[in-house]
Amino acid sequence: MDVLKAVLFFASVVSAKYLPTWESLDSRPLPDWYDEAKLGIFIHWGVFSVPSFRSEWFWWDWQGVKTNDTVEFMKKNYKPDFTYGDFAKQFTAEFFEASEWARIFQDSGAKFIVFVSKHHEGYTNWPSKYSFNWNSKAVGPNRDIVGELAEAVKSQDGLRFGLYHSLFEWFHPWYLADKKNNFTTQEFVDGKTLPELYELVNTYKPDVVWSDGDWEASADYWKSKDFLAWLYNDSPVQSSVVTNDRWGQGVMCHHGGFFTCQDRYNPHHLIKHKWENAMTIDRQSWGFRRRANVADILSIEELLEELITTISCNGNVLLNVGPTHDGMIGVIYQERLHQLGSWLKVNGEGVYSSRPWTYQNDTVTPGVWYTSKSKSQPPAVYAFLLQWPEKGMLYLNSPFPTEKTEVTLLGYSGPSFKWTSQPTQQGIHITFPALNVKQMPCKWAWVLKMTNIKN
Ligand SMILES: *[C@@H]1O[C@H](CO)[C@@H](O)[C@H](O)[C@H]1NC(C)=O
Ligand SMILES: *[C@@H]1O[C@H](CO)[C@@H](O)[C@H](O)[C@H]1NC(C)=O
Ligand SMILES: *[C@@H]1O[C@H](CO)[C@@H](O)[C@H](O)[C@H]1NC(C)=O
Repeated sequence: MDVLKAVLFFASVVSAKYLPTWESLDSRPLPDWYDEAKLGIFIHWGVFSVPSFRSEWFWWDWQGVKTNDTVEFMKKNYKPDFTYGDFAKQFTAEFFEASEWARIFQDSGAKFIVFVSKHHEGYTNWPSKYSFNWNSKAVGPNRDIVGELAEAVKSQDGLRFGLYHSLFEWFHPWYLADKKNNFTTQEFVDGKTLPELYELVNTYKPDVVWSDGDWEASADYWKSKDFLAWLYNDSPVQSSVVTNDRWGQGVMCHHGGFFTCQDRYNPHHLIKHKWENAMTIDRQSWGFRRRANVADILSIEELLEELITTISCNGNVLLNVGPTHDGMIGVIYQERLHQLGSWLKVNGEGVYSSRPWTYQNDTVTPGVWYTSKSKSQPPAVYAFLLQWPEKGMLYLNSPFPTEKTEVTLLGYSGPSFKWTSQPTQQGIHITFPALNVKQMPCKWAWVLKMTNIKN
């Protein structure tokens, strides 16, 4: 190739544009930062945080499917003419301090956040031009919540800002009209959904666009392929943005950026396409729930098991918290996030920027999951132990050690562990030193680092 040809070839590669087809859009490589990040924080906050009754689906429970206890609750506690819109006045947010939230997220060890800009109720947490009188500046907080949070999160080192956005709205008259027309008209998409999405991306420049509420209509109805082509080609975040897979009926788990497949997706085996386990600390709800009991809250051991099994299989965890209507992240959520962060401070080496290994969990010993760093010097395999080996001995069947293999425990500064193996066989017997609890680096899950493994 002569120089001119090479230059022209390079120029054509650089200017290559994504077309609004799944084939073209799916060919875009996922920006590296997302796979390296492993952990993000999801935040569900909106007018539903005022009743905070069963879940963020309150309005639908009350006036859509008319869930019995929700209907009863409204009858008992509110005047007959009270509307869902009236709750917005009580979405006061008086204790909301974006910088404090950002500090809590940073302290959790998460590398990105995904904030609900608008849920299915249609209320926008930013002063949208397309949500007259039903946004956080017009009624409720009288603030640009998305704007304040974007600024605070982006000012934290290594923390990226992302937005959730619901395509549909339960009760929007334009949406209901399109639906009645079997989605042969697109008043709602052209007048509401798309203008809102462009406004969000141009104003707040999120590195994640996490779409939802897509399932009743096709991607053609939502014009999502056109939006994604713009997002990847021409938007202010075209090189850094990642997206999920909820862009129209039948699209989830097949097209888009990372795959979410279903809420709390965690297949426990390797999925080649990058995926995400979106889950909640409160087992029953994404929005704050006043009636949650402590048993409804995942323990730190359960959270770490989710994180460890997820990253071993090529997933990221997006861990949800639901703040209260006044802007607080409840103390039990704060505690879990802080625990995660303290564990990641010790064990993050095996988490961030790791890759799935040849084996995801050990083929013989239960409760052992693996990640790897093949490019580190020397190459390393990390074994995550969900239980401490009580007898001081651990057999791992999957690794094939070499003479140069060293086994250490992350966070433990004592000498490397003694091990034995059969020269021609896979598997390694590891002897743990007699550690007392106070000497152990972190008491919920442990990470062994093994260098120079053969497989
Ligand atoms: C709804 O709740 C009321 C009062 O608790 C009860 O009497 C009624 O049977 C319930 N209806 C349904 C359909 O579950
Ligand atoms: C929508 O589809 C249903 C079922 O196929 C049909 O009965 C109805 O007439 C359609 N409505 C419109 C407005 O096209
Ligand atoms: C490894 O994980 C898979 C999937 O969860 C499970 O079926 C298998 O039993 C696990 N292996 C061991 C040894 O626990």
